[in-house]
Amino acid sequence: MRDLDETTITDEVLQAISPTPDARVRDVSEALVRHLHAFVREIEPTQAEWEFGIDFLTRVGQMCSNVRQEFILLSDTLGVSMLVDAINHRKPEGATETTVFGPFFVEQRPELPLGANMSTGVDGVPMFVSGTVCDVSGRPLAGATIDSWHSDDEGFYDVQRRENLKMRARFRADDRGRFWFWSVRPKFYPIPDDGPVGEMLAAQGRHPYRPEHVHFMIAAEGQETLVTHVFIEGDPYLASDVVFGVKNSLITNYRECPPGLAPDGSEMTVPYLSLEYDFVLSPEPRP
Ligand code: BEZ
Ligand code: FE
Repeated sequence: MRDLDETTITDEVLQAISPTPDARVRDVSEALVRHLHAFVREIEPTQAEWEFGIDFLTRVGQMCSNVRQEFILLSDTLGVSMLVDAINHRKPEGATETTVFGPFFVEQRPELPLGANMSTGVDGVPMFVSGTVCDVSGRPLAGATIDSWHSDDEGFYDVQRRENLKMRARFRADDRGRFWFWSVRPKFYPIPDDGPVGEMLAAQGRHPYRPEHVHFMIAAEGQETLVTHVFIEGDPYLASDVVFGVKNSLITNYRECPPGLAPDGSEMTVPYLSLEYDFVLSPEPRP
């Protein structure tokens, strides 16, 4: 372990970690060293660039708090979150595709009855959301829980405005696996870009926007919990989502509805949008 140079140091470090007792820790450590050394050999950083990189990662860590996770944002914007998602959710034919969870889910969300408005008092275009939850054989999943959350019509989540919880709730599917509720139309929005990840995006010449979407997390007994969004056709950011989360199968269109009797029997005095999506859950993987 002496006299190491750029041609011998990688093997020496691999040798040093080879006694790692846990096989997974050893494999991950070895891959990290191999890829990290290859990265450094490829870019040949100056000492100042290396210091900048250390400072960048330090600031990413310092930006993290109980309401801000800058490391996940870094993972999201470098496509790592979607790569991990893809590796972990190789879904069977017909199952709804997954996408990123995002930082705006709140554990204390209200549980509301089917048909409730989860955005009472929020300005915006009324949106009626409905659909079904089934398994891959088409069997309705009665009692499935449907969590939904989204931004307001200016692209802000309730938690960003530090307001009471709105535009989010948990519902329970009926005995035919159906769900329906009211909300307001969301809008495309920038991810939090006032920290080092925002600086990185600017340096890379990228915008910080996510296309308009509604988040869903759907769970049912014996099924893998589905974390996904529904996107809206025609959004200007569908092809350049800053977190690479868009999948064609998750894009749909609103149905524009005139005032009158809504599908749930309520009488609408203004036009509204109907967002319809049927979700298919895949079986829980065997341990
Ligand atoms: C979101 O859709 O809420 C989101 C996802 C990834 C990063 C930031 C926001
Ligand atoms: Fe979102």
